[in-house]
Parts: sequence; C-alpha cells; structure tokens
Amino acid sequence: MPLLDIENLNVTFKTGDGDVNAVNGVSFTVDKGESLAIVGESGSGKSQTAFAMMGLLARNGRATGTVRFDGTDLLSLSPRALNKVRSREVGMIFQDPMTSLNPYLKVSDQMAEVLQLHEGLSKKAAINEAVKMLDAVRIPDARARVTMYPHEFSGGMRQRIMIAMALLCRPRLLIADEPTTALDVTVQAQIMALLAEIRREFGTAIILITHDLGIVADACDRTLVMYGGQIMEEGATTDVFASPSHPYTHGLLAAVPRLDRDDDTLQTIAGEPPDMSHLPEGCPFTPRCPIARPECMGTKPGLVGFGDDRRRSCHAPVEEVV
Ligand SMILES: Nc1ncnc2c1ncn2[C@@H]1O[C@H](COP(=O)(O)OP(=O)(O)O)[C@@H](O)[C@H]1O
Ligand SMILES: [Mg+2]
Repeated sequence: MPLLDIENLNVTFKTGDGDVNAVNGVSFTVDKGESLAIVGESGSGKSQTAFAMMGLLARNGRATGTVRFDGTDLLSLSPRALNKVRSREVGMIFQDPMTSLNPYLKVSDQMAEVLQLHEGLSKKAAINEAVKMLDAVRIPDARARVTMYPHEFSGGMRQRIMIAMALLCRPRLLIADEPTTALDVTVQAQIMALLAEIRREFGTAIILITHDLGIVADACDRTLVMYGGQIMEEGATTDVFASPSHPYTHGLLAAVPRLDRDDDTLQTIAGEPPDMSHLPEGCPFTPRCPIARPECMGTKPGLVGFGDDRRRSCHAPVEEVV
C-alpha cells in the first residue's frame, strides 16, 4: 500500500466571478520514503493540491475525491482528527519561513511547545530534542543559538529552522512548497542537499512543489508535471528530463538554464497560463501547444500509462514530442 494515495482530487473555489477550478481530477501515489516533485508554472494548481490534502483550503474552497494517507481518507476526517495527522504525520514547509515561525517567540520555546503538546515531553526534554533536530538540519552551535529569536537568523538558517520544526514529531511525509524560491542559488543548493539527507536519515517521504525545474533533477525520484490543475505527465525524474513526453514539459525544460548551454537559447513558453474559471473542454495546454491538433480543443486526452511506469495526457504520439 502506498503511503499516500490520491484519487480524483478536485478543488473548486467559489468567487464573485464564478467557480475557479484549481485542481481537476488529480490522481497520484507516494510510497514510503519516496520523493516526488510536483512541477509546473505558477497557477497550475500545485499548492492547492497540497492544501486540499491537508484540509487547509481557503474558506471559499471545496475539495472532492479521496486522499488516503496510510489507508485513511483525510478528506473524510473530522477537523480534530485531521489536525492530529497534520501535526504528527505530515510536516509542511513553505517558501516563507515566517508563515510557520512566530517572530515573538524564541526558537526554543516554539519548538518545545510542539513537543510538549503533541508528544507529551517535559520542557527540558523537549528543548533537548529541539537542539538535536537543529543539529540534524546543520544549524551551527545549536545548543547556544536555540534561545535566539527567528529574526536573529539569516534567511537560509530560518529555512532550516522551519524544516526542523516540521520534522519534530518525525512525520512520515514532508510537503515542501517552493522551499527555496526566496533563497539565493548557493543556499538553495544547501537546502536541497539537506532535504535529501533528511530523507536518508529519517526515511521521510517528500513531496517537493516547485516552479523551478532546475532544483528537481537531483532531488526527486519521480516528477509529476501539472498544468491547468491537471497532470500532464508523470514518470521517473531521469526519464521525464531525458525524454519529456508532453509538449508542456518540453517547453518547461527548454526554459531551464543549463551550464552546457548558452543562456541565449533559453526559451519561455509563448502565451498565457489558462484562466482557471474558463478551462477548455479538452487539453488546457492547447492554445499554447506547438503541436496541437483539432481534437485537442474539444476532447480531454486522459492520463494514459506508457513506457517504464510513466503516464501522459496528450493526443499527439510520443514520437512527435521532441
Ligand atoms: N481562495 C481562492 N479563491 C479563488 N481562487 C483561488 C484561491 N486560491 C487559489 N486560487 C486559484 O487556484 C489556482 C491554482 O493556484 P495554486 O495551486 O496556488 O497554484 P501554484 O501551482 O502556483 O501553486 C490559481 O488560479 C489561483 O488563482
Ligand atoms: Mg504555489
């Protein structure tokens, strides 16, 4: 049984201008200890997929489908039971550490609070555990610095503290939503290396959400590409990068800076992301697709398995996507 098994997840937001269909029929699994990247341009439904899983949608949002975590459907849990899963079984980290850190509390106090509340530790034991976790995320001199306030740390160090917070109760799944987007390239690489280390050390499964394909290649076993709230393709990261099977993935990869290529050859995908309140009947990428054919506008391709454990949603034959 996979650790996480999402089936036909849909997210709709009610707005004054009508319904926004942010996530449309998304299904995927994550095994124990596995790492999955969810990639796609901004607005493709990546974050709302994660928020819906964890019952964290904005008030005007509604999720349908099933989100089985270790066999239990999270969408059918009471808020109280879901809260328990969120605090102990699934950790989340975000682009901005200050969404998870309280600026007015010493790091020691906020970390200890989590452990006292959820694991029933004494304050002293909790602080010892917090220091251990800060060591694990490579905060230098953690024992002395644990009593500092969040603003006394650099951006990269704050990101490490947030990761340590998320890992305190040893969750089985860590969801990292654009965890390095606000950081400079060197610190980005350090945080990605840290996530890989954590996975090895604690066996934590990881979902990495990012618009930046550049950080995915070495970081994740599998990659899932989203557009218009739908899955365009999925497969082993090496396969998706070496031979993208969807014209959208192809476009995304052409836009990633590479050392072996002059930056002048970088190509962004022409056109605008779709309006999520007026998605076409067919493939949402059709208006921007260089190899679109007549059926693409009116008929959804469906997500079909092919090759070595890959899936794709495209009317064009794989051989044409090059
Ligand atoms: N509270 C909301 N009300 C209406 N639309 C929303 C709301 N929150 C998110 N959306 C829309 O959902 C879509 C998907 O957003 P999101 O999942 O955040 O994208 P991303 O892939 O960048 O993480 C976007 O079009 C966004 O505008
Ligand atoms: Mg997002």
